[in-house]
Amino acid sequence: STIAVFAPATVANVVCGFDVLGFAVNEPGDEVIMRMTNKPGITISKITGDDGRLPLNPAKNTVSVSVQHYLESVGRTDIGLDIELHKKMPIGSGLGSSSASTVAGLFAIKTLLGDETDAATLLPFAMKGEEMACGHGHADNVAPALLGGFVLIRSYEPLDVVRLPHPAGLWCAIVFPDVDVPTREARQIIRNKIFMKDAVTQWGNIAGLVSGLFMQDIDLIGRSMQDVLVEPVRSMLIPDFYVMRQIAMEMGAVSFGISGSGPSVFAFTRDEETAKRITQKLQQHLTGIKIGSNIYVS
Ligand code: HSE
Repeated sequence: STIAVFAPATVANVVCGFDVLGFAVNEPGDEVIMRMTNKPGITISKITGDDGRLPLNPAKNTVSVSVQHYLESVGRTDIGLDIELHKKMPIGSGLGSSSASTVAGLFAIKTLLGDETDAATLLPFAMKGEEMACGHGHADNVAPALLGGFVLIRSYEPLDVVRLPHPAGLWCAIVFPDVDVPTREARQIIRNKIFMKDAVTQWGNIAGLVSGLFMQDIDLIGRSMQDVLVEPVRSMLIPDFYVMRQIAMEMGAVSFGISGSGPSVFAFTRDEETAKRITQKLQQHLTGIKIGSNIYVS
C-alpha cells in the first residue's frame, strides 16, 4: 500500500517563546509518499525541491532515520519501505522545513501500520530528527507540524506539550529573505547567560502572549511579542530586519519578528488583506497565510 502525507511549515518561537512556542500555517508544507515494499529496510527513491541538498542515503536523511527509530520502537524492522520526499519550502528558511518532512514521514508510517495511538506519541521520534538536522532536539517546530495550530512546549523533561487556542481573525504574513541561516549556527550565537531583568521582561511577554491567545485579545498578543533575549543577536543575520519591521508595523501589523531561527520573518495581522499587502510590500515571499492548519492524509 501507498500513502501520501502533507505536513505544514511552522513558525517556531513566536518571538518571545524561544524553544517553547510554535504554530502551524496552512501553506507551504512538505509531502512524503511512502510505499510498502517486499524487501526489508528503507530506501529513498526520490527527493524534489531540495536543489540536490538532501541525502538520498537513508542512514543520513532525517526522514528515514526518524522512521527507522519508530520502526525499532514498535518492533517492525522487518518491513520494507520506499520514500519519496517532495519539498515545497526552502531548506534553512526558518519555516520548519526539516520538521515538516520528518513529521510527514512519521505520520505516514504510523498510518500505514494502522497505529491508532495519539499523534503526539510521534513527538520524541520527530525531535530526534531535529537533533540530527541541527544538533538540538527542540520541539517548537515538530509539535505544531504534528498537532496543528498553536502549541506550547511547557516542559522538555518530561515532555509536556499543550495545545493553545488562537483568535479566529489572526493572520500571518511570512517573508523569506533569500539568505541561508542554518539553525545550528543561529543557535551557536545566542548568549548562554542572561540578566534577571531580561528574564523578567521575557516571561512577562510569554505569559502575556498566551493570555492574549486565550482571551482572543489581539492587542495584548501584539504588545507581548517582544524578545529581549534572542532577537537582538539573531536579527544581525537578517538583512534589513529593522527596516522590514518598521514597514510592517506602519502598514498595520500587530507584531513582527523572526520565524524560528530565521531568516524568514513574520507579521501577525488582523486580516488577510493586510497580510497580503505586507508581504507584497516586502517584495519577497508573497503569501498571506492562515494559522491553524493540520496535517492531512490523502
Ligand atoms: N526554537 C528553535 C530555534 C527553532 O530558535 O533555534 C528553530 O527553527
